[in-house]
Amino acid sequence: MARAVIIDCDPGTDDAIALWLALASRELDVQAVTVVGGNVPLTRTLPNALAIVALAGRAEVPVYAGAARPLLGRFTEAARVHGADGLAGVALPPGKAAAPGIAADALRTQLRAATQPLTLIGIGPATNLALALATEPALCEKIEEVVLMSGAWGEGNFTPAAEFNAFSDPEALAIVLAAAPRVTLATLDLTGQVLVTPERIARLRAMGSGNCLSAASAILEAVAPSPRFHGKPLHDPCAVAWLLWPELFTTREALVAVECGTGPGQGRTHIDRFGRCSADSMYRPVRLLETLDIETFFARLGERLAYLR
Ligand code: BDR
Ligand code: CA
Repeated sequence: MARAVIIDCDPGTDDAIALWLALASRELDVQAVTVVGGNVPLTRTLPNALAIVALAGRAEVPVYAGAARPLLGRFTEAARVHGADGLAGVALPPGKAAAPGIAADALRTQLRAATQPLTLIGIGPATNLALALATEPALCEKIEEVVLMSGAWGEGNFTPAAEFNAFSDPEALAIVLAAAPRVTLATLDLTGQVLVTPERIARLRAMGSGNCLSAASAILEAVAPSPRFHGKPLHDPCAVAWLLWPELFTTREALVAVECGTGPGQGRTHIDRFGRCSADSMYRPVRLLETLDIETFFARLGERLAYLR
């Protein structure tokens, strides 16, 4: 049976590829997409999500608007990586209208109604997930797993201390880590290994001529390289790939504490990979994704995107 998932995202170039990968995969039953302001403001991430879902021929999947700013502090965007439109200048045909209601309510409604446990995939700032889980914590019993692209055990990409999603709403991340029963983290240290190269884009292009595959290739060509990784890391699809192909990863049980508030440490994730700390209200247990079989990942990603029209 397909695993029921909700994807919370801020498209975002790599969010687009992650959404297409999930929508192309029969192992996943994408029940809803919830959208948060992140890489670019919500006024862009929402139409982007709608267009991405429609291009995959899956306009029946409801897309909900969520938080436009973090729980505390100021909104920060990453347009320097994703472009002012969030999709590196690659224009997609507009999608349908957003579903009525707001993301946190939709998440709670779906969890309440779920007859089998739901998996939440969070690939943007964690605001929507935190709002949903903090207001009705009993619903966490309906969660099978929360898979987040967030944080870093090493240096950050947005600041020296922090990865972008964790930096953007550290309080929300702390709430989700405290509430969710089982969290899997795809940190920057994993996703920074997954670099898009011209050869990998050429192989992707050669796998088909569908609209999603072509748009994905164009986005990957156009996205700005990360100075932190001297290349173009493909972050968010790693979170989806974990649910599809766990055998491609090595993992480790670890503890994570998040630096909340402002200042140079904002959004820093302190990750204990070597059993020095104890789980408590500050250090939360997670399954950490450490390595990925990158060549197989890219080959399978291309096969899946080629299924879409
Ligand atoms: C994360 O931040 C965003 O820029 C990407 O979409 C990804 O979710 C990587 O730090
Ligand atoms: Ca993202």
